[in-house]
Amino acid sequence: MNQAMNQDELKAAVADAAIAEIKSQLEKDTILGIGTGSTANLFIDRLGPLRHLFKGAVASSKASAERLEKLGIEVFELNSVGTVPFYIDGADEVNANLHMIKGGGAALTREKIVAACAKRFICIADGSKYVPKLGTFPLPVEVIPMARSYVARELVALGADPVYRQGVITDNGNQIIDCYEFMIDDPVAMEARINAIVGVVTNGLFAARGADVLILGKADGIERITLR
Ligand code: A5P
Repeated sequence: MNQAMNQDELKAAVADAAIAEIKSQLEKDTILGIGTGSTANLFIDRLGPLRHLFKGAVASSKASAERLEKLGIEVFELNSVGTVPFYIDGADEVNANLHMIKGGGAALTREKIVAACAKRFICIADGSKYVPKLGTFPLPVEVIPMARSYVARELVALGADPVYRQGVITDNGNQIIDCYEFMIDDPVAMEARINAIVGVVTNGLFAARGADVLILGKADGIERITLR
């Protein structure tokens, strides 16, 4: 890898590295958990030629399901699968504890559900996503539409500057509020605190269940960070 790699090339490099990480562990009955976003898309594209090595995938969004199916990869309902050995997805921010902010693409709830069912969460990200403290990227919160104003007021009370993401409806038929000016000292506590607000479906902090492995693409090479 050289210094001239741009962000897209770094995303491609981490997608390649994730394939290398899981390829030897694919079996005929393996069903993979697959995330959403531009980095996850690059990973999906690399899975296409390997489809004969595994059974299929569970997707965290309609967009990823469509992309998988176009490549001939069978997509299963999570309820019929149970657990998946790996969940591979990108992040908007990730810290040294492998806590993340996700949901820039509005897929946070399904991402969190599939991640909860995964034995290993492999986060793939270019180096710009690695931060000392979460919160520069506005934290997404998925809300039941009728609760939007109430939830926004509660988020103000927590110190955030909430902004309704106009024109976006999630795959679950809900709306997104993005929390600006909201640096997060304790991601595990804040994830639970926001999820306890009535009307919140979930928030984009992935801390109670963070990543197990981070594959980070940096100008000087791929770094693999693991906690467990
Ligand atoms: C989708 O809702 C998000 O959680 C994505 O995983 C996240 O936004 C990363 O996306 P990119 O890979 O496009 O940066």
